[in-house]
This record gives sequence, structure tokens and C-alpha cells, in this order.
Amino acid sequence: MSNLLSARDVKVHLRVHGRIVKAVDGVDLDVEPGQCVGIVGESGSGKSTLGRAMTRLLPNVEIAELSGSVRFCGEDVLAMAPERLNALRRHRGLSMVFQDPLSYLNPTLRIDRQLAEALRHLPDRHAVRETSAELLQQVGLDDAERILRLYPHELSGGMRQRVLIAMALAPEPQILVADEPTTALDATVQYQVIQTLRRLNQERGLAMLIITHDLGMVAELCDRVYVMYGGKIVEAADVFALFDAPQNAYTASLLAAARRLHQTKALGTT
Ligand SMILES: Nc1ncnc2c1ncn2[C@@H]1O[C@H](COP(=O)(O)OP(=O)(O)OP(=O)(O)O)[C@@H](O)[C@H]1O
Ligand SMILES: [Mg+2]
Repeated sequence: MSNLLSARDVKVHLRVHGRIVKAVDGVDLDVEPGQCVGIVGESGSGKSTLGRAMTRLLPNVEIAELSGSVRFCGEDVLAMAPERLNALRRHRGLSMVFQDPLSYLNPTLRIDRQLAEALRHLPDRHAVRETSAELLQQVGLDDAERILRLYPHELSGGMRQRVLIAMALAPEPQILVADEPTTALDATVQYQVIQTLRRLNQERGLAMLIITHDLGMVAELCDRVYVMYGGKIVEAADVFALFDAPQNAYTASLLAAARRLHQTKALGTT
């Protein structure tokens, strides 16, 4: 199948306090239409920087080198003009969801106004209202009429994260890049958000690139997984193959650590 999103030899080197940090250092990665792909790896391995490069929302630091290509539907995201990039984001393109929903929601605006902003392409207020309610329902928020009238601080963490996902779905993207979409949430709410993402993947055929520490989430959602270490991909495999027989020593240690954590939790000692 042809790729929806594909990175080739992507490098993002940052200049931090006068030193070069090779946050992403020659990465190849592919997402096919409708596929759910995971990126895992230890803290600082470059996952977020890679996710940002794939959507060209680069970190707010000096970039010493940005090279390689990121093709979305055949066009190079890293090379395209800013107007073209905006058009792609607004219209059936690439959407990104970050870890901390509060910092991406405007505290002074009710949810209906924020969704309306994301739905500017619709013809009138009636259509905006209807689509806003539909989007909230799609992410599992059934009480849409009430939620639309609330401010972000009046929502729980799980509701905020789902509102953010609803906003990301507003331009009808073909792919959603989600960076640690459940990290800030407690276990039950994490599970609900994961189920929501799974449903969007299965019912709408929404492709996803999920960045996470959580191997349980990978097992639940992903078809394919890339393991990052020190800015590079050290292993790429279908999810079953990775869990059954990791080829790389680092991947094996990551899986062993996750199993130990799981066992400790099951014993109720944490
Ligand atoms: N805004 C920034 N300022 C300074 N250094 C940064 C910045 N963003 C990334 N880096 C550096 O780039 C490297 C990769 O960071 P990145 O945030 O991509 O890792 P990560 O795998 O997402 O980690 P985590 O799991 O903790 O989110 C790290 O060495 C990090 O310190
Ligand atoms: Mg990160």
C-alpha cells in the first residue's frame, strides 16, 4: 500500500546552551492509510521532536539542522510553503494532539467558541453548532449541549483531553499525531481515551501516529511500532512480532521493564 505519511532520513539537531543535541538523527518511518503506528522509547530519546517534525510544529529552540523529508500524500511537509502547510492542517490533513490539554485550550473561552474556531470552514452558525455536538459525541462526550457551554477549567482532565481530540478532528484529518495523549490521566480515564482513539481508527479509518511510554496502549491500539533510542530508530516491527520476539536488546529491556512494572502493580505493591 502507498504511504500516507513517510519520513526519510529526518534529522532535527537542536542547539541547546551552545551544544548540539541530535534529538532526531536520521529517522525513516511510514504510516499507511488507516494504520495505527506507535513510537516508543525512553525519555529524551527524541519521540516528541520526531512527532513535531512530522507535523512541522518544531520546538521553540534554535534548530541547528533540519534535513530529510516528510511526505504527506506525496508532498514534502518540511519543504512546502507556509500557506500550503496551513491549508493542509485546516483541510483534511494532519492534526496533532499534545500531552497537556490545558495549555492548548484557551481558558477564557467556552468550549463552543473554541470548537467554532476549529470549524471556521463551515458555512453558518447552525452547521457549526451541529458539527460541534457531533464531534463531542464522536469522542465519547454524550452530554454535548452542556459541555459546549463550559469553560476548560470546568472539565475533568479526561474530558479536556477528549475536547482536544474533538478539536483535532474538526478539519477531518486523515492522520492524527498524538503525543502522550493519556499520560496526565488516571488509569480508568486513560482506558476510555484509548477506546475512543481505537473507535476513531476502526470506524473512520483515521490513521494515527501515537507517541507513548505506555506499552499497554501500544498493544491495545497499534499495528506497527517503532522503538527510538538516542534519536534513532533501533527497531521497527509489527506489534505482535515486537512483543513476541524483540530483535533488539534495548527493545527487550523496555518490554522486560514494562512486564516487571505490570507485575508489581498487579501485586498491589505500588
Ligand atoms: N525545547 C527544547 N529545549 C531543549 N532541549 C530540547 C527541547 N526539545 C527537545 N530537547 C532535547 O531533545 C532530546 C529529545 O527530546 P524529546 O522531547 O523529543 O524526547 P522524548 O522522547 O519525547 O522524551 P519524553 O519521553 O520525556 O517526552 C532531549 O535531549 C531533549 O533534552
Ligand atoms: Mg516527549
